[in-house]
Amino acid sequence: MTYKLTVNGQPRTVDVDEDTPLLWVLRDELGLTGTKFGCGIAACGACTVHMDGQPLRSCSLPVSAVTGEITTIEAVTGTEAKALQDAWVRLDVPQCGYCQSGQLMSAVALLREIAKPTDSDIDLAMNGNICRCATYIRIRAAIHEAAKAIA
Ligand code: FES
Ligand code: FES
Repeated sequence: MTYKLTVNGQPRTVDVDEDTPLLWVLRDELGLTGTKFGCGIAACGACTVHMDGQPLRSCSLPVSAVTGEITTIEAVTGTEAKALQDAWVRLDVPQCGYCQSGQLMSAVALLREIAKPTDSDIDLAMNGNICRCATYIRIRAAIHEAAKAIA
């Protein structure tokens, strides 16, 4: 079937089965490989993208259920995204890097909702993003640093 999507501000048309996960549409049909596959069952967060600004697991959303504008790591912008990317670099957050696009997408959504998150706000918002390299402490520090930079 043909689906019309808006991805990173651009109208895109894809011809795929209705149950194709959004993740594979992004990666295989549109070449947006910054969004990663980890588990395929909404349990690791590596595939996190935004739909109308809200984070979601693209591995578990069929393309036929996409109802809003999709933003991926390749195009996420704005004050929060910039501050977080800067803090990520300053604090040298990534290790292998595999989970990091998902981590950043969740962190951007968090800072857009809570300008000055506490440790528990961060832990709650980032809970579904698994990092096998255990960069959690640096992630938390970078989110605090980004929040301070914005303030
Ligand atoms: S690949 Fe989607 S949550 Fe793990
Ligand atoms: S940096 Fe390696 S999985 Fe998170």
